[in-house]
Amino acid sequence: MKRNLLSVLDLTKEEIERLVRDAITLKKRQKAGLVYQPLRGKVLGMLFEKPSTRTRVSFEAGFYQMGGGVIFMSPRETQLGRGETIEDTARVLSRYVDIAVLRVFSHETLERFAQNATIPVINGLSDLLHPCQILSDLLTIYEKLGKMEGFKVVFVGDGNNVANSWINLAARLNVEVVVNCPKGYEPLHEIVDGARAQGARVYINNEPDAGIEDADVIYTDVWCSMGQEEEKEERLKAFRVFQVNEELMEKAPKAYFMHCLPAHRGEEVTDGVIDGPRSLVWDEAENRLHMQKAIILFLLGIEP
Ligand code: CP
Ligand code: NVA
Repeated sequence: MKRNLLSVLDLTKEEIERLVRDAITLKKRQKAGLVYQPLRGKVLGMLFEKPSTRTRVSFEAGFYQMGGGVIFMSPRETQLGRGETIEDTARVLSRYVDIAVLRVFSHETLERFAQNATIPVINGLSDLLHPCQILSDLLTIYEKLGKMEGFKVVFVGDGNNVANSWINLAARLNVEVVVNCPKGYEPLHEIVDGARAQGARVYINNEPDAGIEDADVIYTDVWCSMGQEEEKEERLKAFRVFQVNEELMEKAPKAYFMHCLPAHRGEEVTDGVIDGPRSLVWDEAENRLHMQKAIILFLLGIEP
């Protein structure tokens, strides 16, 4: 039975822990300069409706490093742009490539593709979720704190795809997730309720500094996600007091700073914080590479 990774909820707690351990193995091997190419002869298909730096390059570099080849497609260059359905595209691509990563506007597009594909499908970001980001963030936190559970993340900003995936993680691991966002920009109800129903410690507030005193991580994301460009002006106004700046970080004395990137410096985060001593953002970006490799091997049934 083929597996997909459309959501953190597609994984069990044990599988999440295994992915982190596998990513560490792969990272160590790469740092030691060892060549490891279990994917010779395999092809990754990437279909991206939105721009990407980290997700695209980490998946592509990771797949090449492991000996495979990659085909990158945007809808404009395929027949999708001329009306071929996503279902038919999934059926056809499944005949050519071994695994696919999609970055889409609507999460439903991803689900429709996955339902019709006979190969594993990975969510490289949808409007709803960004699971690969949160899995690699867990790796980064594990490297710093030495544990995968029993820590507290305070997400300050937009209750969007990244925040939603943090909440999903809390449904699987014992991680406390607090989301501080303006009224009207809360994470999706169904996701919060679903996580709470499974015993997750998830709290939503409308003040920027709620619960940050004992946070292990202060996390933020852009205020205006891809596809929300028209809302920019009203969003800048609504989020103004939710900036992660030096003053806010002072209220969280032991917290690291994390950001999925790209950052809009001067909006959701100041230069002082993102370039400051508590910022993990570059390790966080690097770890996308190691986690993507672990995810690919896991879905292809290969032990690293
Ligand atoms: N964090 C992240 O997904 O970055 P990209 O949009 O550059 O892929
Ligand atoms: N919330 C952002 C994440 C970018 C990685 C977006 O969807 O644009």
